[in-house]
Amino acid sequence: MSKECIHIMVGVAGAGKSTVVEELGAKLVEAGNEVLIICPDDLREQFCNGDRSDQSKNGLVWKTAYAQVQVAMEENQEIIFDATMINPRKRKDLLKMALRNKYKVMGHVVRRDLDVIKEQNKNRKWVVPEHIIENMFKSFVVPSSEEGFHGVVYH
Ligand SMILES: Nc1ncnc2c1ncn2[C@@H]1O[C@H](COP(=O)(O)OP(=O)(O)O)[C@@H](O)[C@H]1O
Ligand SMILES: [Mg+2]
Repeated sequence: MSKECIHIMVGVAGAGKSTVVEELGAKLVEAGNEVLIICPDDLREQFCNGDRSDQSKNGLVWKTAYAQVQVAMEENQEIIFDATMINPRKRKDLLKMALRNKYKVMGHVVRRDLDVIKEQNKNRKWVVPEHIIENMFKSFVVPSSEEGFHGVVYH
């Protein structure tokens, strides 16, 4: 059966995923796990002169993020994947990789009302354009067992 687990964050930009990741990471470490956090926004920051919102290097960003996942899985690392992953189409490749590597897959949903998300978005350093947040909000689909998730936690 499954060995290690990949925790896939699911939520619109600004909903509070990275904030939950800090708590979740701390809990997993307390429980004795070595946890690797893989976050495409961190890679954007690295590849785009510090700009976490720059989407111009998305090809490289995703290729690198998935390569990091594959290496981590070969080393049986517990993983938290911190990106929006708002619907099955966006999650498909990551789930395929996880299931192929016999990982347990947990979805961690961070779902907030649209007005709360917009407010949180305004108050942070990298503000995402509101129309992008609205589009993400509309295309949000909760993770399901049909997609391959073994469990879903709501934060
Ligand atoms: N429960 C909360 N209450 C108040 N502010 C929050 C809460 N969760 C997140 N925030 C703030 O909202 C902003 C977006 O959170 P973040 O975790 O970066 O979202 P995401 O990673 O989903 O884009 C940050 O400025 C964060 O400090
Ligand atoms: Mg984040």
